[in-house]
Amino acid sequence: MRFILAVISCVYACGAFAQSGRIPVAAEHGIVVSSHHLASEAGMHVLQQGGNAVDAAIATAFALAVTLPSAGNIGGGGFLVYHSTDGFVTSFNFREKAPLAATRTMFLNDEGEVRDNSNHEGMLSVGVPGTVAGLVLAHERLGSMAWSDLVAPAVTLAAEGFPSTRAMQGFLEMLSRTDDPLYDATREAFLKGGTDVYDPGELWKQPDLAASLQRISDQGHDGFYAGQTAQLLADFSARHSGIITLADLASYEAEEQAPVHGIYRGYDIYSMAPPSSGGVALIEMLNILEGYDLAGMGHNGAQYLHVLTEAMRRAFADRAEHLGDPDFNPNMPLDRLTSKEYAARLRESIDLSQASKSDSSQFAALYTAYESEETTHLSVMDGAGNAVSLTYTLEHSYGSRIMAEGTGFLLNNEMGDFNPIPGRTNSRGLIGTPPNVVAPAKRMLSSMTPTIVAKDGKPVLVVGSPGGRTIINTVLQVILNVIDHDMTIAEAVEAPRIHHQWLPDVSSFESLGISPDTRRLYEALGHEVRLRGTQGRAHCIAAEGDLLYGAADSRSYDGRAIGF
Ligand code: GLY
Repeated sequence: MRFILAVISCVYACGAFAQSGRIPVAAEHGIVVSSHHLASEAGMHVLQQGGNAVDAAIATAFALAVTLPSAGNIGGGGFLVYHSTDGFVTSFNFREKAPLAATRTMFLNDEGEVRDNSNHEGMLSVGVPGTVAGLVLAHERLGSMAWSDLVAPAVTLAAEGFPSTRAMQGFLEMLSRTDDPLYDATREAFLKGGTDVYDPGELWKQPDLAASLQRISDQGHDGFYAGQTAQLLADFSARHSGIITLADLASYEAEEQAPVHGIYRGYDIYSMAPPSSGGVALIEMLNILEGYDLAGMGHNGAQYLHVLTEAMRRAFADRAEHLGDPDFNPNMPLDRLTSKEYAARLRESIDLSQASKSDSSQFAALYTAYESEETTHLSVMDGAGNAVSLTYTLEHSYGSRIMAEGTGFLLNNEMGDFNPIPGRTNSRGLIGTPPNVVAPAKRMLSSMTPTIVAKDGKPVLVVGSPGGRTIINTVLQVILNVIDHDMTIAEAVEAPRIHHQWLPDVSSFESLGISPDTRRLYEALGHEVRLRGTQGRAHCIAAEGDLLYGAADSRSYDGRAIGF
């Protein structure tokens, strides 16, 4: 608790400022925005100690693995995009991999159907985790503080506990009603005495997680991928019909790779390249939309929403046809998909007075892969102007919900992001195609879109969100809100959003977000609309002049932007 009290008192005593809502927090020396205030505080504390943006992002990510177990993780994977204040840009790919024993048809029964939802539930749904390898690699390349100092806040939060949050109540109640032995360790870790639900505000300690984090603190990469943690994972997997072995863990490597780059109205856009589809689809949409006077159409007017939808439709069709793990798809046409010429051709196919139709018949083999909307995003800028955009995930909320005894952390169910039935066309219309079928050591396609926007070589926006495929469209709209509609970063984050993903050919509007009049005009163009609750939780930063502005999305339970 010492660390927490030190940080909380720092927020009030050290001139730090916190925000959530429509007014961004302004700061001079650094800002962290994440989905849990204690994690934002952990990152800010690192900045106050002289750490850089990468140091703070690592500390925030480890703290979220403790305080936001629905998506913060060390048992999952993700992506980090970095832009230094002097123009150096890179990214880190720590997406999970399929185990070495994985096969194309590993989820299918004799009839060729998915067996017992096995791509989403049970040990076969678990990919080889990447988060720890990714954070270690980012630290080796760009970190400045001692590794153990970055893991320490998370160790303290796990060992000394923090107040259980209302956001966890639904999961805890569900857990208390199950007795499946597969989730024994999960119940032990999450429930009081292994059986009772913590009330919001009650102190929740995670001793096994603290021990796992301490091994990572002491031994870095090997503290997770070898030794006790690896052995506990491999033994558990073997006992529960899983296929993850010590060899899978020992061979896992994160990768540093070039981000995908585009230019939108004079701004440089840097985002995640495959195995995320996010960056390519984002830049394709921005290129299409650059040809329209979006400001003149007015924010969220029917004509504006129409051209947004048509750009989304085209980018998501290309996502389905072309994108997957680059190690297994060496010939993806990334240059073409992100080119201005291609966007101009797509724009010519858009009729301003009528919706296009999404046509799946152009593909021989479509399959609908459900993609969860859980994930979490954090943004950091330090006082020098270095920026980190980091999105990581367990796939479903609380991932597979499986915890190997003695480890204290949840395992992902990211294998569900692969196409489980090679060659299957599905009329429901969620998409998975040959580039994204299962193979040993392959990474599943993602929609995570950690993005940094730069002007004249300096980061000016750090953007990202959870939300499965909606992530890409959430990031798109936040960027358009700032660049085309002249919003502050907080207004841009708060503004209502829409989503279209080619198939199914339906647009979703946030309920209460778009007026009934606008909806009628939009539907008159031939679009079908469904209402949804909220879309994404974008935690973003803007830099302007000498100040940094942070905005935590009010769609998030415990999110907070904190700067100093
Ligand atoms: N599992 C969510 C994503 O990778 O986009």
